[in-house]
Amino acid sequence: MADLPPDNASPAKRAAIALAITVALLAAVWFGLGDGAYLWVKAAHIIAVIAWMAGMLYLPRLFIYHCDAPKGSAQSETFKVMEHRLLNVIINPAMVLTWVLGLWLAWQGAFFSDGWLHAKLALVIAMSGVHGFFSASVRRFAADANTTSQRAWRMWNEVPTVLMILIVLLVVVKPF
Ligand code: HEM
Repeated sequence: MADLPPDNASPAKRAAIALAITVALLAAVWFGLGDGAYLWVKAAHIIAVIAWMAGMLYLPRLFIYHCDAPKGSAQSETFKVMEHRLLNVIINPAMVLTWVLGLWLAWQGAFFSDGWLHAKLALVIAMSGVHGFFSASVRRFAADANTTSQRAWRMWNEVPTVLMILIVLLVVVKPF
């Protein structure tokens, strides 16, 4: 396991803090802006989505380079720190925010019976599953126990991109 810099909080604690801040902000926006809150929350949802996707697109790219670094080398230890930080500081909190704000929008907009939202939710659940796999992979790389080939990482690298394109098409075009 790499000698990682100490974290101030565990991933679960970070997620709980992100959730608490979001709920507090939602309440403030809700009571402060009334009907105008929807667009502000949608903007915050899109910002959270961008942060989540930036991390989901970059993390497998780090895994690809990490495969080339000999175990125990300084380069490999640096990749471990980068992966750990990217996951815990950006990707995990951004996913929590995306979910909470997205569900609030769906509830406020009364979209829960719409086909496009069902399809979008299925794809977002798939994205969250890929997130879980990447998260487990960060732990495996940290223990020098990655068994996934560089070629396979190159393919995994494309999965969040494809899911993201389909999700955006569904929510913007709303084809059904
Ligand atoms: C986590 C579960 C999610 C839920 C429940 C959710 C739900 C929603 C809802 C209800 C809206 C408002 C639609 C409207 O006002 O017409 C919205 C907007 C949006 N969502 Fe999500 N979303 C989620 C995750 C995501 C993800 C992962 C992405 C991208 C990869 C995404 C991209 C967007 C975009 C780009 C918009 C703005 C669409 C527009 O205004 O035309 N969402 N989302």
